[in-house]
Amino acid sequence: MREKLLINGGNNLSGEVEIGGAKNSAVALIVAAILARDIVILTNVKPIEDVFCLISILEKLNVNCYYDKKSTLIIDSRRIKNTRLDSDEVYQLRASYYFMGALMSLFDHAEVGAPGGCNLGERPIDLHLLGFSKLGFDYHLDENIFIFDKKSESETTINLPKISVGATINILLASIGREKRVVINNIAIEPEIKDVIEFLKKMGANIKCRGRRLTITPQGKLKGVTHKVIPDRIEAGTFMILGSILSPYLKINNINIKHLRNIIDVLSKIGVSIEEGDTYLIIRKQSKYTSQNIKVKPYPGFPTDLQQPLTVLLSMCEGESSIEETIYPARLSHVDSLNKMGADIRIEDNLIKINGVKNFKAADVDGEDLRGGISLVLAALLGEGESKIGGVKYIKRGYSDLVKKIEGIGGNIKIIGETNK
Ligand code: EPU
Repeated sequence: MREKLLINGGNNLSGEVEIGGAKNSAVALIVAAILARDIVILTNVKPIEDVFCLISILEKLNVNCYYDKKSTLIIDSRRIKNTRLDSDEVYQLRASYYFMGALMSLFDHAEVGAPGGCNLGERPIDLHLLGFSKLGFDYHLDENIFIFDKKSESETTINLPKISVGATINILLASIGREKRVVINNIAIEPEIKDVIEFLKKMGANIKCRGRRLTITPQGKLKGVTHKVIPDRIEAGTFMILGSILSPYLKINNINIKHLRNIIDVLSKIGVSIEEGDTYLIIRKQSKYTSQNIKVKPYPGFPTDLQQPLTVLLSMCEGESSIEETIYPARLSHVDSLNKMGADIRIEDNLIKINGVKNFKAADVDGEDLRGGISLVLAALLGEGESKIGGVKYIKRGYSDLVKKIEGIGGNIKIIGETNK
C-alpha cells in the first residue's frame, strides 16, 4: 500500500511545538550558497524532501552538500563545475529554477530543466525570463531544458509587471554576477526574500532594498558564511490553525512574531485567543468563531500558502465565510476531499465559499499538493474516527517530523504503507 497517514481524530491536542526553518527561504539559500564558491554553513534547515532534492542536484554540479547535524547543512562549492541540470529532481520541485539565476551569476552559460513543484494550476516563469533577458542573457529551449547564453551586458532597470517571489529571487541571483548596476522594481517582499538578501549581503554582495525596489551594484568576490534560516511562518501558521480548532492550550515556539502579523490579524478577527511573545505564541481554542471574508495577497497580505488550511478553521465558524485566492485561483485540490470529510465548501466565480459545519468526519482521502494535504490532516484530527490521508509525499515537501510533532501534543497519528517518491 502507498504511504498514508492514519489519524484517529476527535481529541483535544495540548502542549508545545517547535517550528523549523522556513522551507521557502532554505530552498533559495541552498542554491544561493554556490555564489560563494566557498564553504557555507546554513543552520535551522529542516530535513524535508525539497532540501533532499536540492542536495542531489548540487552533487551534479560537483558541490558537496550534507547535513552535519540534524538541521545544519554544509555546502562546499569550491570545486563547482557547470553542467546541464536535467535529473529527475529538477522536475520535482519549484526551487530548482533558482539554479538558472545562480549559474548565470557564475558562468556565461547555463542549462536547466523546467521546474516542477506542486500542481497549483498554471505556474509560468515568463517574469524570470524577462529579467534574464534584461540582464543580457538569450535563451532557447532544447525540449524541456532552458539553455541560456550571455550576449551583452549593460546597466539595466527591470520593471516586473507582477509581484513574484520566485522571479524576484531568481533575477536577484543572476544580478549578483553582473559588472553593471541592476535595479529591480516591483519586487516581492516576503520575509524569505529578505532572508536571501541578508545572506547575500553577508557573503559580500552589494544590495540595497527600499520598499519594492532592489539595487544591485557590482562587488568583489563573495565569501562563505554561516547563516541561520528564519523560522517557517507557514508551518507556524499551520500550527496556529491547528491550535485554533483543537487546542485548549498550544504553545508554538521558534517563531518570528513580526512575520506572523497578517495571520494573527485574521485569526484574531475570527475570534481565536492568541497570546504573543517575540519568539512564541500561545493559542487557545474558543467555542464560537465568527465567519470572515479573506483575500489572499502577496506579503504583507494573508499568504496563499495558508489558504487551504484556513478553509478548515473557517468551516468551524458560524455562517458563511469566503476566501478570494488571487495568487493561485486553481489552488483548490482540497475542496472535494474536505467536502467528503463533512465540509460545506463550494467555488463561486473567483471565491471559495465556506459554510460553517458542526464537525468533520473521518474519511479515506488523498492530498494532491503540500498545503492541500496538510489541510486534510487538520480535518482528520478534528473528525471523530479513523481517517487515512494519502499524498504523504507532498506533505513531506514542507513539513518535517509532522507525526512526531502531532504525537507530542497528544495526537493519534502514524504513517502506514510504503514510502513512495
Ligand atoms: N507568476 C507569473 N509569471 C512568473 C512567475 C509567477 O505569472 O514568471 C505568477 C504566478 O502564476 C502566481 C503569482 O505570479 O500567480 C505569484 O507566483 P510566485 O512567483 O510568487 O510563486 P512561486 O515563486 O512559484 C513561491 C513559493 C510558493 C508560494 C508562492 C506565493 C517557493 C519555492 N514557492 O512560489 O510556495 O505559494 O511563492 O507566495 O518559494 C508552498 O510553500 O506551498 C508554495 C507553493
